[in-house]
This record gives sequence, C-alpha cells and structure tokens, in this order.
Amino acid sequence: SDPGLVARARAAKEALGDRLFVLGHHYQRDEVIQFADVTGDSFKLAQQAAARPEAEFIVFCGVHFMAESADILTGDDQAVILPDLAAGCSMADMAARRQVDECWDLLTDLGLAEDVVPITYMNSSADIKAFVGEHDGLVCTSSNAERALRWAFARGRKVLFLPDQHLGRNTAVRDLGFDLSDCVTYNPHKPGGGLTPEELRDAKMILWRGHCSVHGRFTLDSVREVRDRVPGVNVLVHPECRHEVVAAADMVGSTEYIIKALDAAPAGSAWAIGTELNLVRRLAGAHPDKQVMFLDKTICYCSTMNRIDLPHLVWSLEELVAGRVPHRITVDADTAHHAKVALDRMLALP
Ligand code: 13P
Ligand code: SF4
Repeated sequence: SDPGLVARARAAKEALGDRLFVLGHHYQRDEVIQFADVTGDSFKLAQQAAARPEAEFIVFCGVHFMAESADILTGDDQAVILPDLAAGCSMADMAARRQVDECWDLLTDLGLAEDVVPITYMNSSADIKAFVGEHDGLVCTSSNAERALRWAFARGRKVLFLPDQHLGRNTAVRDLGFDLSDCVTYNPHKPGGGLTPEELRDAKMILWRGHCSVHGRFTLDSVREVRDRVPGVNVLVHPECRHEVVAAADMVGSTEYIIKALDAAPAGSAWAIGTELNLVRRLAGAHPDKQVMFLDKTICYCSTMNRIDLPHLVWSLEELVAGRVPHRITVDADTAHHAKVALDRMLALP
C-alpha cells in the first residue's frame, strides 16, 4: 500500500490515541486490516464494539449492518463511523421491513404466527433486527446459528429465518438433523411467498429467499474439481455457501473458525477455502508451510467490503483529527431499542 497513506494513517491514529477504536472484519483488505485494533468475525466484532466505552470514535472497517449493530450496542456519546457509506451488503438488502411485515401478516392470517420464532442473521438492517426483537426472536451470526436455532425451537415449533436461506438450511440440516423437506423457501417477490398454506403449515424452517452473492459462486463442481486436482485436500467453507457445497465440504464455519482451523492444521496439509478472497489470501501468506488455496477458479472478493480502502480510512481518521465526524452511522431510538433486545438475546446465548 501507498507509503504516504500508511504514514498518514499512523499519524492520525496516534493523534487520536484512546479516543479512537478501530474494528476490522476479516474480509477487509490488507491495507486496512493492518490498522484495526481488533479483528474478528461478525460475532466477535459485535461483542467488541462495546468493549471500549471510553473511545469517542469507533471506526468500523466492515459493512453497514455491522456499523449499525455497533451503534445499537454502544452509548449515545460514542460515534460509529463507516469510512465509505457505499459499503453495504447485497444480502442484507434482500429483506426489507415492509416485506417481512407482509410475511408475518400472512403467517398470522393462517393462524401460524404464534408458533413461529423469527431469527435474523446479523447480515440484515437494523429494522429487521427490530422486527425480530418485537416478535420475541433473536439475532444470530454464523458462529452461533446452531445455538440460536436450539433457543428458538425451545420456544416455538417453527422458525422464520431471515435473510440467508443457506445459513438457515445448512444449520437446520447439519446441526439439528432436520430433513431438507422440513425447510421451505419464502420468496418475498411472489404472492404468498410462492408457497401454499399447507407448505407453510408443514415446514419447520421458513427460509427467507436471500443469499450472499460472493459465497453463491462456489459450486459442487468447485469442490469436485479441487478434490480431483489435490488429493487429500481439506475443503473448508463458510455456511453462507449453498447446501450442496456445505454437504460436500469437510469443515464448515465462520471466518474466525476458518482462521483457527488453519492455525491448528499440520504443516504440509492442503486446504481449499470457500470464503472471501482477502481472507483466503491472508491465510495463504500466514501459513507458508501449508498449501492454502481458494476453492474456486474465478476470483471472489466482496465488492462492498472492498469499498473500505486505505484512502477512505485515512480520510475518515484525518477528519476526526480535524474535529469533524464523517459518515456517522446512527439508528433511531425506537428501532435501536427493539433491535438491541434481539442482539442482547444473541449475546446472552450460553
Ligand atoms: P462471519 O465473519 O461472521 O463469518 O460473517 C461473514 C460475512 O459474510 C460477513 O459479512
Ligand atoms: Fe454481504 Fe456476502 Fe459481502 Fe458478507 S460477503 S458482506 S454476506 S455480500
């Protein structure tokens, strides 16, 4: 990365001292992640957001829903800053509050809503988290989805899982032993979700039809191809991948899990990793004694994670030094109240 920008980022961080706390998701670019005080998966970053109450400014190097969650979980006197406001998430955009309310109205009309516990993946907007909080549900991340589902099935007979159909399906089938036929996919663009009342009545998991376009690129062919090419390879994927990819993999877990699995792997072992490319490249660099490769042949960055680059980070930090607060992410008090209920339930999972 540009040495001039690196020096400017260092100088600004030093000038801000303890007033500044920088969080970085594992999918961030190398040039950015080097300035994070804490790196983590979505769960760890949600926990860590509240860890520095004395910091006036939390610069969130990640995507919009993560910064919103950090704002919800921190005090009003702490400003959460997203260095580029265009760093959204296409999956989070696949569930709008109006659509989810419509789905709930349908379930209510069918007399099913009282049996349903809603769960939203962290990768959703604050008003979806608020919906879930208002309806006695909770948030989950890829590192606690199994515990969240068990929590929900201890309280209801069905789960409405938003917005990632793959995380919902993979967790229900892999970790809870459900059949694929226990899951239905609700399409918000079709009347009735594209499902019959009987299908909704019989389903244990009602999966919102959302997905991650980055992880959606990995296919069963990617797994077969790497197994043919590299005998003995360990296939390790993120649970946002499609079900058939997860079913064919050797190990599945969150970004933090993937990092720990590589740390624990023996020298000489081979790993094909199905997740975002910045992380896979960093793992390859950190483990020269292992063969670490990307699961697919086509490259696969998360374009919105990549919006946060060194120029944006430097600009944000220098604005703070100059006494201005750029790109502050705020959630209105009512939404934040209900969303916090759902986030706190996740943070309290055993
Ligand atoms: P985790 O870091 O929680 O595994 O999430 C991956 C992701 O897609 C974040 O956008
Ligand atoms: Fe969203 Fe997928 Fe990017 Fe994560 S990797 S931020 S789920 S688009």
